[in-house]
Amino acid sequence: MSATANLQIAEIGISGGNIRPELPLLRPTLGPPMVDVRSLHKEAGYFTYDPGLGETGICRSTITYVDGDTGVLLYRGYPIDALVENCSYLEICWLLLNGELPTAAQLDRFSYDITHHTMVNEQLHAIYRGFRRDAHPMAVMCGVVGALAAFYHDGLDIFDPHHRMIASHRLVAKMPTIAAMAYKYSQGQPFVYPRNDLGYSENLLNMLFSVPCEPYRVPEAAARALEALLIIQADHEQNASTSAMRFVGSTRANPYACTAAAIAALWGPLHGGANEGVLQTLAEIGSVERIPEIVRRAKDKNDPYRLMGFGHRVYKSYDPRAKVLRRRCYEVLDALGQHDDPLLELAMELERVVLADDYFIERKLYPNVDFYSGIIFRALGLPPAMFTPVFAVARTVGWVAHWNEMIADPETRLSRPRQLYTGPGERAVVPIAERAVHHRSSASPRRRIIPARRQIRAGGFPLA
Ligand code: CMC
Repeated sequence: MSATANLQIAEIGISGGNIRPELPLLRPTLGPPMVDVRSLHKEAGYFTYDPGLGETGICRSTITYVDGDTGVLLYRGYPIDALVENCSYLEICWLLLNGELPTAAQLDRFSYDITHHTMVNEQLHAIYRGFRRDAHPMAVMCGVVGALAAFYHDGLDIFDPHHRMIASHRLVAKMPTIAAMAYKYSQGQPFVYPRNDLGYSENLLNMLFSVPCEPYRVPEAAARALEALLIIQADHEQNASTSAMRFVGSTRANPYACTAAAIAALWGPLHGGANEGVLQTLAEIGSVERIPEIVRRAKDKNDPYRLMGFGHRVYKSYDPRAKVLRRRCYEVLDALGQHDDPLLELAMELERVVLADDYFIERKLYPNVDFYSGIIFRALGLPPAMFTPVFAVARTVGWVAHWNEMIADPETRLSRPRQLYTGPGERAVVPIAERAVHHRSSASPRRRIIPARRQIRAGGFPLA
């Protein structure tokens, strides 16, 4: 773009027109150019305002590309559907961490390393026992993964690429063990140790579902479906949890503590917690006849209720991840003999009604990845409260890939955004005896927070 375009952009916020800062345009490999506003305040005295950061690039990255208008998702340049068809989850982990697909020898070595880091320190067991049995497994995971910082702190130099890679491998390796232990603890069953003879997905399923009193064989279809889910959820560029990882990581905090922050962000019902919400929504609907009533509620401006599993900040067309999972969903239900699950029938009808409804068409609200992942997780036998923990297992590699990239990038600075202050101007403190009573007005954000909590409470606890 020309220098004139730069000047036009600079004119936007400047009254009088005397100051015309030249803001460079940054050109990505794919996607629209970005105006570099780093010098705007210095040159013109302005900051930019962008709640939710929906229009703002917070970093440069070579890991994942999303085009929300056309429904494209690439990991390191490779389309997501091709990766699901041709690669294992561990190949994807290598790709996200290293930039290229591994050779057979590299994959062997990497699989060995991951497999041999899956056990957790026995002392960690005591931390689980400090939680109530009915604690949400995401709460347990925030705590336990944060606690890893206490085990791996001394001698960890985040500026040493080798140290960073060891921390990344540990996290990818231990997350399935940690998630499965959270589940077993909630069930009052003994923890199941990882097995080195099983692949990544099989091992997770074995730790979740086997018990010491009888043999358990991981169903092949279940391992295949889980592998696809893990690949699809492995990364999604600057989503809320990855940005949380970057925000906390920018303070140079311990990577295990950063990952605990990312897990907390993922838990929210507007982000990774939506897969649990989808099942609640379907349970709430109950039968096909009630779909119109629920859809009417979702469209009502005076009702903060939202249909979980629909809509996305970036995708304004069909979520490419949902497209792949839709196919897998039918496959796994067939293979596991659950094709006549009434819940699936309900989900398909809900999808049909929503896709034909003007409200959703005008706002470009399509089923997202959580719509189908919720159904697949259920088919695998997971209770709703375990859906987001398994999502966290999948996304860990994305979080650590971004953390590595961020620490290595010389452009990285402490994340410290600005605000548009709208509180009172400076004023004098009134002595307590002279203060008048003030009533707080009910701010609109409350409306958004309460329903989200209510939605979790409705069906998420306890595990069932
Ligand atoms: N049901 C009903 N209306 C909706 C929904 C929904 N699920 N999603 C968005 N809208 C409406 C919203 O009310 C607004 O309407 P209007 O323009 O009349 O005010 C319009 O669509 C735009 O919504 P928005 O809230 O401004 O969009 P956003 O980009 O801030 O929100 C979202 C994105 C994902 C938070 C939202 O679509 C949502 O709450 N969806 C349900 C939760 C969900 O499924 N989340 C998982 C996302 S995928 C997993 C991941 O990548 O994290």
